[in-house]
Amino acid sequence: MANEVSIGLLGLGVVGSGVLKIIEEHQEDLVHRLGRGVKVEKVLVRNLEKARQVDVDERILTTNSDEVLKNPNIDIIVEVMGGVDDARQYILEALKAKKHVVTANKDLIALHGPELEKVARENGCDLFYEASVGGGIPLLRSVADGLISDRINQVMGIVNGTTNYILTKMTKDGQSYEDALRKAQELGFAEADPTADVEGLDAARKMVILARLSFLTNVELDDVEVKGISDVSLTDIEYGKKLDLTMKLIGFAKRTGQEIEVNVQPTFLADTHPLASVNDEYNAVYVSGEAVGETMFYGPGAGSLPTATAVMADVVEVIKNMILGVNGKKFIRPQFEKKLAPPENRYSQYYIRLKVKDETGAFARISDLFKKLGISFERILQTPREEGYADVIVVTHETSYENFKQALEDLEKLDVVDSIRSHYRVEGDAKR
Ligand code: HSE
Repeated sequence: MANEVSIGLLGLGVVGSGVLKIIEEHQEDLVHRLGRGVKVEKVLVRNLEKARQVDVDERILTTNSDEVLKNPNIDIIVEVMGGVDDARQYILEALKAKKHVVTANKDLIALHGPELEKVARENGCDLFYEASVGGGIPLLRSVADGLISDRINQVMGIVNGTTNYILTKMTKDGQSYEDALRKAQELGFAEADPTADVEGLDAARKMVILARLSFLTNVELDDVEVKGISDVSLTDIEYGKKLDLTMKLIGFAKRTGQEIEVNVQPTFLADTHPLASVNDEYNAVYVSGEAVGETMFYGPGAGSLPTATAVMADVVEVIKNMILGVNGKKFIRPQFEKKLAPPENRYSQYYIRLKVKDETGAFARISDLFKKLGISFERILQTPREEGYADVIVVTHETSYENFKQALEDLEKLDVVDSIRSHYRVEGDAKR
């Protein structure tokens, strides 16, 4: 093995620039820790003329993927270009050419992770993707290695910085959804087209990866129920405050026996829940294991240098494996057949806000309906709103998802209920 390990970078955007910077600025530390240097040999870019966020020797830039993927000097390909189709093709090509791959691409791993891991295994190559979830938080390796002897039964997290920033601004500053989104775009958290973030898809992809590693089963994107934050209103956030609840976009993955559920949805957390105080663009993931109990991982979920540290952790692991001659051995193989929990086996508390006719006996009718379904109330709030109507908010005790859906269906038919304004999952002990 040479005294210097050569890397081919696919992409030189926000994360790629960070990788280049860390390799340059921390070269001495890398040499000390690995006993050899790390060098970026070639960088695939779309446009050679584009201004860069980092000083780079222009001779290493290329628009020809062959100069990176077919380069005999390159040992490790680092894919930080994003997108799915080209990235998949390049990674397949790299693995077949026996180059190890590090990627930060959650979309690709969520959609094609098992296929790429198979090809990596067949070619004796490493394929690592620490940076795909939680940016700079050392999360996936903690779940996969740190908790390897445990059985994880729940993973709950704030895994999207853009939506956490928006919800924080709505909650703390009373900003409207539109204003908070605009601010997130100005600060560069949210994309020009923010759909994947605000509609929960980015979080869903990350939860697929987390659930696969946590439950050792082949979770796919279609298994995840997804709801974003674009419907969340300031009114509900304000009612939440009265009930000591904080609104967050939560990725939730739970295993009960062999059954699992994975979803992403705006969720009211008890203010005392550790995730309730994770604000702005920060991410945090709360992992519960049978033996370890409760653990929480917190940090920057995106950004150039934070994400680059996760990419470099993978690069260093590949190099250590090269030194030991053990590449291509470390894969988390599915151990269990996937069984999705049916609605009757999925339990939660719920917040339901109803527009109710302000007349005698209205509340008794509602309470009767819940009683018939065996759903008990934990909290109730009633405020007069428009002329002749009141907002009635109930927070239920735990009930099955099946029961909850039935309650919504029955409430729709109740003549004292004008409409169901909103409903959210509630997590944590909401008792005060
Ligand atoms: N768009 C993501 C977020 C960052 O807002 O968290 C990259 O995963």
